[in-house]
Amino acid sequence: MSDGLEHVVAAETVLSEVDGQRGVLIVRGRSLDELAGRARFEDVAALLFEGFFEDLPRDLGSALGAARAEVFAEVPGLDTGLLDRTPLEAMRALTARLGDGEDLPTALRLVAAPAVFTAAVLRSQAGEAPIAPDPRLGHAADILRMTRGRPAGAEEARALDAYLTTVADHGLNASTFAARVIASTRAGLTSAVLGGIGALKGPLHGGAPGPVIEMLDAIGEPANAQAWIENALARGERLMGFGHRIYRVRDPRADALKAAVRRLAESSDALPGRLAFAEAVEAAALAILKAHKPDRPLDTNVEFYTALLLEALAFPPSAFTCVFAMGRVAGWIAHAREQVLGGRLIRPQSRYVGPMPLAAA
Ligand code: COA
Repeated sequence: MSDGLEHVVAAETVLSEVDGQRGVLIVRGRSLDELAGRARFEDVAALLFEGFFEDLPRDLGSALGAARAEVFAEVPGLDTGLLDRTPLEAMRALTARLGDGEDLPTALRLVAAPAVFTAAVLRSQAGEAPIAPDPRLGHAADILRMTRGRPAGAEEARALDAYLTTVADHGLNASTFAARVIASTRAGLTSAVLGGIGALKGPLHGGAPGPVIEMLDAIGEPANAQAWIENALARGERLMGFGHRIYRVRDPRADALKAAVRRLAESSDALPGRLAFAEAVEAAALAILKAHKPDRPLDTNVEFYTALLLEALAFPPSAFTCVFAMGRVAGWIAHAREQVLGGRLIRPQSRYVGPMPLAAA
């Protein structure tokens, strides 16, 4: 038996390849470098959906804009009970109001849902009215506009696009596997996406970037980094934003996102200082982790610079996992369709290690 299914190949996919030894991510034949910072999120979603839906339009952007407007109709379902929950729990509940299905309109509503609902939840929790989508805008620009209540600058939209495309798909990670298991029962895309959101929520998967900000804030200045990190490890804690199940070298997504933060920093007064501080903490963490676990390579993962990028775009840390879901939802849907079209029911076995009934006398 393989603990945590490590080394188990549980699906064949045309969607993405994670090469953990070389630190390379390939999405449908394109390297991450070709996509991050260059492609719009809707184009990467179209790339992932190719062959899995009939009538896929060449330009998914306007169809996705219309889907954002459509799901906004669910926002009045955001009652006071839901507003007391975390943004992710409220977004998940609103997403659950969408009907199940396997067709492209269902898929587009699901891609739109985390974006539209998270923005509406954040504004409502701040006591402000939700802002309706503008279907003519690109997905990233509209997310920023709906969340912050003002139009996004081109560089900001580009940075969010870089983030969403970087995280859109990543092999058989925990949330994608959860989505594929659900899809394999023919439950429908909404059920599969809800399973993905549930798995993503955990701090070992998509819940890490919020705690990265807490760590940076607790450290405060570079001189405190070493003592803070050593104390955290001595308490048996894990450093958020470091380590990965597959990568034994640096996660290539960390550099794609760091490049996006650098571009944003060119037009910001505060960001260069924050970036330099984060780099100092990262360097200290890597040196200490190397001494702490000499046999286990623990390098920077996607979440470290995710935290910096989403903070620079003024998302609150409580919503970082929701923004992750806005990108990864494209991968969940593509994997769910791939599973339905070519796969069998996923039903592994367990080995019973409990007591046996007493033999009859
Ligand atoms: N900080 C400190 N120690 C870490 C660590 C981290 N970030 N990540 C792993 N380790 C240690 C573990 O404690 C374990 O030590 P042990 O053998 O003494 O118990 C060893 O390294 C192996 O870890 P393991 O739990 O087997 O790795 P995994 O493949 O199951 O876990 C992660 C991968 C991502 C869950 C793990 O690295 C982690 O928890 N990272 C922090 C959370 C995070 O950033 N998540 C986002 C992932 S993209």
